[in-house]
Amino acid sequence: MQTLPDTQCYLNGEYGSLRDAKVSVLDRGFIFGDGIYEVVPVYGRKLFRFDEHMARLGRGLAKLRIPNPHGDSEWLERCRRLIASLAERAGAVDQLVYLQVTRGVALRDHVMPPDIEPTVFMMTSPMKPPTAEQRHHGVACTTARDFRWERGDIKSTSLLGNVLARQMSADHGAVETVMFRDGWLTEGSGSNVWVVHEGALLGPPKSEHVLEGIRYDLLGELCEEVGIAYNLRPIPEADVLSADELLISSATKEVLPVTTLDGEPVGHGALRGKPGPVYSRLYEAYQRAKATQSI
Ligand code: PDD
Repeated sequence: MQTLPDTQCYLNGEYGSLRDAKVSVLDRGFIFGDGIYEVVPVYGRKLFRFDEHMARLGRGLAKLRIPNPHGDSEWLERCRRLIASLAERAGAVDQLVYLQVTRGVALRDHVMPPDIEPTVFMMTSPMKPPTAEQRHHGVACTTARDFRWERGDIKSTSLLGNVLARQMSADHGAVETVMFRDGWLTEGSGSNVWVVHEGALLGPPKSEHVLEGIRYDLLGELCEEVGIAYNLRPIPEADVLSADELLISSATKEVLPVTTLDGEPVGHGALRGKPGPVYSRLYEAYQRAKATQSI
């Protein structure tokens, strides 16, 4: 087993060491992956787009019929306590808060048991942003058929499909697997995927096949701010393969340029295989947003 850091975590009302935290083997998160999670970035000890993360958590819990165990201000207070603890202990001011709610503990039965207490787990870790090298040169991705289930809109802890998909790119030394369902772009194993075509940023429509990343609306707002057209529409595989630029976005990657896909350089002309201008403008706008939209 890996040695776990001795940082503070939160489990069902108690703060304690991550090394010692334990849940029941009958927790439905363990047995069924029956839960929801969030990953919230923290910059300078402040939570970025926290309200949006809480809103998505609430929507996900409602889809699973799990009552939200806390109000937003209680979540915020707990997040802040963990952030302060890690900042004090490790000096990390940029962090990633992970929180998960499972349906709770019950004898194994697929049917949702009524009246059980959800299990709440939270931890925070130092942020590991993309390297300067990755930002400068862009990253490699591979492609795969999207073989996951049809409820990609739920930020579920049942992530086996995503784990299998991610490993396919990891096996090729790539940072993400870009997936297609019936020839249409869905998303990455742990990020959303964006295509730049004739100066516009295109993303797949929000649907049950795609997680509505918090960066979906954020990128829409940033595009408006810097004057880039933003359009959500079905994107056939051919449009991805012939993109001017390809980007991925997530809480951990922010927005990151993809410069090779299955070993082929992305883009055209002088920018072939290089990060492009739409990426640069969105990256800069993103950095400004971090300073103004963190609480
Ligand atoms: N992953 N799609 C999938 C399948 C994801 O797992 C994620 C995020 C995203 C991007 O969502 P957001 O912009 O809200 O981070 C899209 C997180 C970071 C993870 O599982 O660690």
